[in-house]
Amino acid sequence: MRFSTLSTLAIATTVVMASPTTVHKRSPISLPFAKVINATGVLNIVAHDLARYKALRSPAKSATSQDSVISAPADDIGMSYIASVGVGTPPTFCKPAIGRSSTVPDNNVNLTTDSLIIDTGSSNTWIGADPLHAYISTSSSVPLVEPIVVDYGSGEFVGLAFSDTITIGSLVILEQTIGVALLAFGFTDVDGILGIGPVNRTMETLVLDPEAEIPTVVDNAFTQALIPEDVVAVSFEPATSNPDMNGELTFGGTDPSKYTGSITYTPVTSISPSSSFWGIEQTITYGSEIILNQTAGIVDTGTTLLGLASDAYSAYQSATGASLDSSTDLLTITSEQYANLQNLTFTIGDTEFVMTPNAQIWPRSLNTVIGGTPGVVYLVVINLGTPSGEGLDFINGQVFLERFYSVYDTTNKRVGLANTPFTFATSN
Ligand SMILES: *[C@@H]1O[C@H](CO)[C@@H](O)[C@H](O)[C@H]1NC(C)=O
Ligand SMILES: *[C@@H]1O[C@H](CO)[C@@H](O)[C@H](O)[C@H]1NC(C)=O
Ligand SMILES: *[C@@H]1O[C@H](CO)[C@@H](O)[C@H](O)[C@H]1NC(C)=O
Ligand SMILES: *[C@@H]1O[C@H](CO)[C@@H](O)[C@H](O)[C@H]1NC(C)=O
Ligand SMILES: *[C@@H]1O[C@H](CO)[C@@H](O)[C@H](O)[C@H]1NC(C)=O
Repeated sequence: MRFSTLSTLAIATTVVMASPTTVHKRSPISLPFAKVINATGVLNIVAHDLARYKALRSPAKSATSQDSVISAPADDIGMSYIASVGVGTPPTFCKPAIGRSSTVPDNNVNLTTDSLIIDTGSSNTWIGADPLHAYISTSSSVPLVEPIVVDYGSGEFVGLAFSDTITIGSLVILEQTIGVALLAFGFTDVDGILGIGPVNRTMETLVLDPEAEIPTVVDNAFTQALIPEDVVAVSFEPATSNPDMNGELTFGGTDPSKYTGSITYTPVTSISPSSSFWGIEQTITYGSEIILNQTAGIVDTGTTLLGLASDAYSAYQSATGASLDSSTDLLTITSEQYANLQNLTFTIGDTEFVMTPNAQIWPRSLNTVIGGTPGVVYLVVINLGTPSGEGLDFINGQVFLERFYSVYDTTNKRVGLANTPFTFATSN
């Protein structure tokens, strides 16, 4: 037995050493991404996040649901993480890349790029949200003749399914099923969504085949042996400008230069409805007071703020002494209260992740974007409006993810979190 195990190991080692190119190809692949705020007039991020929360909580919705249409504030993508993605062969990139000079003429599609919202809370990838940047059919485009629909709460798209080649950085993923929008609303200035949630969130999106799951771009990259693990990781520094370019998405593993210490992994929760997302269980303590005791919620790149169940939110509000500001719908505190703000500690597994006072306040350089007053201190904690114990008691959104590195591991059904060089930074 022992000999046989050892010889298997020896063979495996030999194979790896004999094909260094394979090893190289199967390294994790990273690409940068931006955070963009679309603020035409005043952006109500609280309304955006609550519309999304409502949609996340609702059971699978039908294409004809009137309610979902009514709940959506249109023309408001909020604050989104945006990746540049090419579709087709050669990849056509339909829209000027964020941060790139837009002196390139609009009809020169090869020098521009699709801008897709990076969403861990949904799992379909689709394009065509911007009618000015239509899908370009190429040799790799195969129409699947199937309607496809996804409702996001803050927007919705209805389109047709295609199979096509998707280029993300140096990853070239073949035969990816994507949606091509015929109709989309709630998405301003983006081309669609790169859905990197768990694959079963794609169920009920193919109208004629509701039981079918559509492998995500991460799943297909893994199946096609382009990456070593069915894992994707997100890094972002606290955003203080618009657009802000400092994001990094890593496919197939993690980037140790983006985190400090080790990554704590926690299993995806079995508590519904968080179980069908990147759902985890955590306890939240403000100072020394437990405000949320070991319940389930989600980690979500598509939510801007930190959402808490109403009882936890109330406990936080009274402990901080904050009052509700009617122009932003955020909690606000005086500078004296800010000076006394305590740590907000997330206990996940056996590890404590600390949001310092500085991490709990809205970036002051972005106050006016959300209708706030310069110099005022707003808090990033919002009220989800439902009591704890209903299975989705918190949303650790971008304000959380900009202080911690996050890892979404399909292979092992777990979520990883780690501190970063910015966890304790006074960046704001
Ligand atoms: C926001 O969307 C509007 C269209 O509604 C667009 O004209 C504007 O350029 C966008 N702003 C940003 C910062 O993306
Ligand atoms: C894009 O580039 C490819 C090859 O590089 C070329 O065949 C195609 O015509 C170009 N498309 C446009 C619209 O310029
Ligand atoms: C999705 O998959 C997870 C993990 O396998 C499971 O816990 C969850 O119940 C599934 N959700 C749905 C809606 O099928
Ligand atoms: C938290 O929940 C655990 C398990 O349900 C319980 O034993 C403990 O007393 C609770 N702690 C607080 C402070 O409510
Ligand atoms: C907040 O947490 C940090 C890091 O653990 C610690 O250094 C600091 O003393 C804490 N602050 C308070 C007020 O407890």
